[in-house]
Amino acid sequence: MTIVIKIGGSTLGDNDTSLQDIVHLAEAGQRPIVVHGGGAMITDWLTKLNITTNFVNGLRSTNPDALEVVIAILRGVVNTTLVTQLTQLGGRAVGISGVDNSLIQAEQYNSDLGLVGKITKINNDLLIPLLDNNIIPVIAPIGIESLSQPLNINADTVAGEIAASINAEKLVFLTDVDGIMDDSGALVPTLTVQTSNALKEAGILKGGMIPKVDAGFTASKAGTFVHIINGTLAYSLQQLMDGNLSGTTIKGG
Ligand SMILES: Nc1ncnc2c1ncn2[C@@H]1O[C@H](COP(=O)(O)OP(=O)(O)OP(=O)(O)O)[C@@H](O)[C@H]1O
Ligand SMILES: [Mg+2]
Repeated sequence: MTIVIKIGGSTLGDNDTSLQDIVHLAEAGQRPIVVHGGGAMITDWLTKLNITTNFVNGLRSTNPDALEVVIAILRGVVNTTLVTQLTQLGGRAVGISGVDNSLIQAEQYNSDLGLVGKITKINNDLLIPLLDNNIIPVIAPIGIESLSQPLNINADTVAGEIAASINAEKLVFLTDVDGIMDDSGALVPTLTVQTSNALKEAGILKGGMIPKVDAGFTASKAGTFVHIINGTLAYSLQQLMDGNLSGTTIKGG
């Protein structure tokens, strides 16, 4: 079973068992693909370096200076750290970004967002041999425009498009909350397009949750089962696979 797992920056680092679950899945013969974010660390470094950015609908507007930081942190620090940790846990992992073999082809949305990519094509050639050799691909969300310009891409969007392109059975978003909450703060077990639109309009579904939900619908439309679960809970991914936890399931699109 091919399972795309998006690891949120906010769930990284603190005594996380998600990587252990991912290694166990691979050892059990599943085909996990990891896509990671790193928003919090990018924000820290942009602040340290005095580079200002702002967010438009959950996407970070990116100028050339900011893009250098995005590449350095995502492809450098976060990706390398994850591959190291998976290796330490006994996994076989290879770190790549969407620039490698033009995995994630993209074009700029608009000048407000600057060097932020909208995905135009996924070339998953590189992923198949890795998966066939029981290697876990670990993907930094950087795309390439016109085979020449790297672009910052939201990691949730990358996870959704990769899941759809490779016909993954599952797409799991590991984040720092139990799933989507409604206006009363209750967990929404199944999120439909209709509920999603209502929650967005009411301003309850917002920020970093918006690209996650939209990416979920992209994958769901392609036939993938999509879940948002709390990656900060011990063994949440394994529990999801065992049917003991479901967070929010995204259906429709
Ligand atoms: N309706 C909602 N239900 C639950 N969380 C919501 C909702 N609307 C917005 N959020 C926010 O979305 C956040 C998760 O998205 P966020 O982008 O911060 O994390 P991530 O995608 O897991 O990590 P990263 O962006 O670093 O990769 C939650 O912590 C919560 O504050
Ligand atoms: Mg996010």
